[in-house]
Amino acid sequence: MTEADLLDSAERLSREELEALQLERLRATLRHAYDNVGFYRQSFDKAGLRPEDCRTLADLGRFPFTAKADLRDNYPFGMFAVDQSQVRRVHASSGTTGRPTVVGYTERDLDTWADVVARSIRAAGGRPGHKVHVAYGYGLFTGGLGAHYGAERLGCTVIPASGGMTARQVQLITDFRPEIIMVTPSYMLTILDEFERQGIDPRTTSLKVGIFGAEPWTEEMRREIEERFAIDAVDIYGLSEVIGPGVAQECVETKDGLHVWEDHFYPEVVDPLTGEVLPDGEHGELVFTSLTKEAMPVIRYRTRDLTRLLPGTARVFRRMEKVTGRSDDMVILRGVNLFPTQIEEIVLRTPHVAPHFQLRLTREGRLDALTVRAEARAGATPEQREAAGRAIAAAVKDGVGVSIAVEVVDPETLERSVGKIKRIVDLRQK
Ligand code: DLL
Repeated sequence: MTEADLLDSAERLSREELEALQLERLRATLRHAYDNVGFYRQSFDKAGLRPEDCRTLADLGRFPFTAKADLRDNYPFGMFAVDQSQVRRVHASSGTTGRPTVVGYTERDLDTWADVVARSIRAAGGRPGHKVHVAYGYGLFTGGLGAHYGAERLGCTVIPASGGMTARQVQLITDFRPEIIMVTPSYMLTILDEFERQGIDPRTTSLKVGIFGAEPWTEEMRREIEERFAIDAVDIYGLSEVIGPGVAQECVETKDGLHVWEDHFYPEVVDPLTGEVLPDGEHGELVFTSLTKEAMPVIRYRTRDLTRLLPGTARVFRRMEKVTGRSDDMVILRGVNLFPTQIEEIVLRTPHVAPHFQLRLTREGRLDALTVRAEARAGATPEQREAAGRAIAAAVKDGVGVSIAVEVVDPETLERSVGKIKRIVDLRQK
């Protein structure tokens, strides 16, 4: 069997066939949303549009956006397009304030979800018979259960570890010998520390591939994890509102950004300020329209994630570049925009500091100030720590164009992640 034999039927479509399928599914989705969700009926009516006004894929750009606030306003089930008896499962994301965002799935939606995650694991190098250690959290978060059913669908053996209890994660990996791990990159670093604490060389585990997502991470982080575990590290993207993990996946053979599973999720990139649709290749905010979802179709959902679309390579589907960050996580310092991923690149390139860091925002007078707290590597001398601090500040000044303070703190003092990491600690008075 060749690699090409492993692809499913949608992965073998030509670009023309794919676009024809997208248009057919898009028109059906607009109709389904308009007929069954009050919110979409009102928003289309207000824009003077009917589902049938979408005659080409480009026509989608005339339809109104959906924002997270719209989901909150329709809490809990107001965005559902099917009778509650058809909803087999709900998930929810807590968000930072107020009501969670609730999402729902029919039986067919759960089936689609398992299929796209299975496809993702296969693209990452997973094969039937592999053991998959799932350390994404189980529960209302979509990471654990999403990964779980996808791995089963592919024909893998699932180890449903969930997040936390890090010493036990190490024991399970050592004893059960999985080939694949699915976890946030920041929690993978916590697991790495625990291996070292137990005196086990992380390069000697059975792991071959890590499928990392649910938070932004950089090429520098990829290098760090790949080297220290001797594995391939690939990126998986998704969001609950669209389905969960498995919206886009990086192929292990190219590691050149994430192929969006465009037969189910139609991507656009828009100018975050004007909402204008940008041509492929330009940076902006990612927007998704579901093409097959029944329980909760989403039309032009604004993700707040910043990236750009690129042509397909290992697959016919377009790629999205690794996400730079969320527009909500952008720090504006004296007029300069800064993302935690820019700090990550710099910290991970700097000798004598560990890949653990935090951004602390304070207000000095009328100006915001940023302190990067980075953790010294064990054994770093006071001089090396000082030099590292200076190097980070200089690299931020050079690369980002803004002055920041750096504190190099003792090893093992910054809080460790067990799931999605929170990089920014905002100490400004509201
Ligand atoms: O994080 C789904 C997921 C679980 C994806 C496991 C991958 C792996 P939410 O909790 O709804 O869903 O959060 C979605 O997380 O809008 C991005 O801001 C961020 N995110 C997810 N994957 C990536 C990634 C899950 N690969 C939000 N790179 C999204 C960067 C990511 N950010």
